[in-house]
This record gives sequence, structure tokens and C-alpha cells, in this order.
Amino acid sequence: MTTSTPSAASSVADRRADGGRVPQTLLLLGASGDLAARLLLPGLGRLVGGGAQPGLRLVGSGAEDWDDERWRRRVAESFAMVGADGPAETEVVRAARYVPADVTREEDLRRLLATCHGQLVIFFALPPTVTARAAAALTRVGLPPGTRLMLEKPFGTDEVSARSLNDILAGLVPEDQVHRIDHFLGKSTVVNILGLRFANRIFEPVLNAAHVACVDIVFDETLGLEGRAGYYDGAGALVDMVQSHLLQILALMAMDAPPTLDARDLRGRKAQVLRATRVWDGDPARWSRRARYTAGEVGGRRLPAYADEPGIEATRGTETLAEVVLGVDTWRWAGVPFRLRSGKALAGTRKEAVVTFKQPPRVPTGLTGLEQPDRLRIGFGPDRLGLDVNINGPGNPLELDQVHLTADFGPGGLPPYGEVLRGAFDGDPTLSVRGDTAEECWRIVGPVLEAWRAGAVPLQEYPAGSHGPGDSLLACPPGDARWR
Ligand code: BG6
Repeated sequence: MTTSTPSAASSVADRRADGGRVPQTLLLLGASGDLAARLLLPGLGRLVGGGAQPGLRLVGSGAEDWDDERWRRRVAESFAMVGADGPAETEVVRAARYVPADVTREEDLRRLLATCHGQLVIFFALPPTVTARAAAALTRVGLPPGTRLMLEKPFGTDEVSARSLNDILAGLVPEDQVHRIDHFLGKSTVVNILGLRFANRIFEPVLNAAHVACVDIVFDETLGLEGRAGYYDGAGALVDMVQSHLLQILALMAMDAPPTLDARDLRGRKAQVLRATRVWDGDPARWSRRARYTAGEVGGRRLPAYADEPGIEATRGTETLAEVVLGVDTWRWAGVPFRLRSGKALAGTRKEAVVTFKQPPRVPTGLTGLEQPDRLRIGFGPDRLGLDVNINGPGNPLELDQVHLTADFGPGGLPPYGEVLRGAFDGDPTLSVRGDTAEECWRIVGPVLEAWRAGAVPLQEYPAGSHGPGDSLLACPPGDARWR
């Protein structure tokens, strides 16, 4: 079965369209970096091309001593990656300005702000420590009223630094003007979890501990380091993926229904369920795994060992695969393990949340062959919904067999970065991470990081192109006693 479903992400966005708007300036700090070129500017190009931001001015700033022409070429190249070359996009490129600056210095920031007009949106595409210093300097400089701030992940480097960054930001603008970016919240399939759960009668009544054996949230990639040593070696898979993206998915999968999808209701529900989330049994040494890839071949491409990649400090022991089992201490989910895993340079791509259901209370004697549990699958690329169900197989009707029903989701109207940028331009923080939630996500992974630092969990190895270390915590039924 293959059908198309409309994107919930676009309906959220449509609802917040506010008609006439003052011209806006996007001030991009860290403009010469990789994130801007690969993700942010292409997202902006698509947004502008859709006609949503008339009169937008783009000011880039970075440590590189570029001029306007160099910057315009960079913007045009990134726009071209997504075919954003219409009149609106060309006008943004033509008017784009670049100001070389040390964004942690007050006089540079003053100079920068003087080039901006109208409603200001500042995007910090910077490492967390530089973001904190730039934000602190801005508190001394002052911001035009109504300024919105966008901050790329990771937000801080632990719970304490996230709290202190939140304190600095609170001195700059009100919380609703702070957009902590998690681009997974701009993915239409991720937002579609809301539609799936709360706009159907058939799933929600069984999404609880009475019926669910476990929930897996998996993001396995074939990509390796891809030249991102500078950032990745200081982060690792747990911080890069689990602390941020996968916990956001967990929150949407596990939260109770919000009365509305307004920022206050939706973010309140997410915060509530994350506050109840902790490492399974409070035992990170038992319920987490870390590993890194050695040399191997992925999809015909030879990859060096992670430790031999240029720019990697092998003794740091950064993991490229992380697994952690979490419990959600609520009435709905008590006793159901949520298993989160993400790894790089693996044999295949697997990006999905899978709900594995318990065995039916009784299968009539005479029906044979029940080997697999029912599963609900939400795929994040390819974007699809799947149901694995047991039915009578061909041939002998009393012999059970499993079939897989799938429905492909229509693509979101905008790429994820376009979607989160739109949220900031519209002044709608619904799809951004609230301050307390950013701290909470560090609180959840904190014990795991501590156990790893203390050497309580060995750093395993797996060849690039393999399925990861053998003793994965994602031991799925039928091996899993919970299903039985
Ligand atoms: C990024 C991580 O945030 O998300 C990357 O830093 C990861 O390591 C990426 O590959 C995955 O997101 P997407 O949108 O490319 O699937």
C-alpha cells in the first residue's frame, strides 16, 4: 500500500502566517562556516523563493576577511544547490553584505548592528563557547527591541553551561524570542508524529505501557566524519544526535496530547515528559554503549578509521556510535524502555522510531507461527509510516505470517532549516527548543557522559560498513522477554 499524506509541518506554519510584515534583516554570525553553506543558506533560499520574506536583507559576519562579493558568491552557490535562483532570491544575493568581525568584541558588534535595519534576527552558527561569549558581549552593547535570536546546537556543553547561557539570553530578550534550533523539529515527518498520534483513534489508545513492549528511536547513517573533525571530535554521537535530535523525537512520541499546538502548550507537554525521563534503572554503565569505527568500506567507499581521520585526537576516545536506554516515569510509560541509538559509517541507513507492541493476551489454540510482534514504524528518511502486522499467511490459513504496510509521506514544503528559519521570521517559537528543555536534555545524558568519562563503559570498535558492535542494546523481540 502506498499513499501520500499531507504534511503537518506545513499546517503548523500556515496557521502562523501573519500577513503584512516589516522588512527583516538576518544577521548570520559564523557566516563563512560549513553549516551556513550546506544547510542554512539553502534553507533560506527555499524560504525566500517561496515569497515568504519580501525585502529580507542578509548580513553575514565571520572571522574570515571576506568582502561583499565573496559572500554573495557563497550565498548564490548555496541557493543554487536547491535551485533557489528566482527574482526574490537574486535580490537577497544582490543586497547581501559581509562584515568581517570578532563577534565576541563589543566594538565589532556595534559596527555589525549598525549595518542592520528593520526587524532583526540574529543566527549564531558558532561553537557553544563562542556563542556564550558573543551573547555576553551583546548584553553590554544592547539589542534593538523585538530582536530574535537563533542558536544552533549544541546549546552549551553540559547542564551547567546551558543554564548559564540561558541566563545570559534572558538578559537580552524574552524567552519567546529565543529560537534554540533543532532542525529535526523542522522535518515534516517528525512533526507528523503529532498528526499520527493525536488525529487518529486507532493508535493513541494503545500507545502506553499496557500495550507497548519497547520504543526504539534509531538514526543510523552511512556517512562518516565528512570533514567535520573540528566540531565532531569535541561532541561525539551522544551529544551530536542523542542529546538533541533523538530526545526531541522521544518527547513527541511520549508526551501527552497538548490541548493546542501553540508554543506554550506544545513545549509545555514536551518539557513535562522530558522531566520524567532518565537513564534506565539509573544505571548508565549497564544501559549505555559507545563505539567508534575502524577502517572499512561503506557503499563501495573506503573510509579510514575514525581515529586516523585528519584533525582527530584519537586519545580523546570520541564515540561515533552511541546507544542509551531511557525510562519515562509517567503513568503512561512506566516500565517501557526507550532505546535511543545513533551511529556513523554503518552498513545501511536506518532512520526511524519503532513502537514494538506486546504479545496479544491470548492467541487461540490452533493458530500457529506467531513469531514477530506488531510494530508501528515512523521513518525519518525515507519519510514513511509502516505497520508490521500478523495475518493469516498464504497457503494454510491457520499459519500466521507478517505483512508490512507502508505509506509514504509527502515531502514537507520546506527543508528543515527553511522551516526553523520561518519560525524565527514569524516570531513563532513552536518548533524551537525552550530553555528549560535544553537544560533537561543535558540532565538526561549527564550520567551517561559521566560514566563514560570515568571509564565505566568501554569504547568498543566496529568496522566502517558493519552493523556496529555485536551486543547492541536494541536486542529486539523475539529475543526480548518483554514481548513474550
Ligand atoms: C546533524 C548532525 O545535526 O544532523 C549530523 O550534526 C547528522 O552528524 C545530521 O548527520 C543528520 O540530519 P539530517 O537532516 O542530515 O538527516
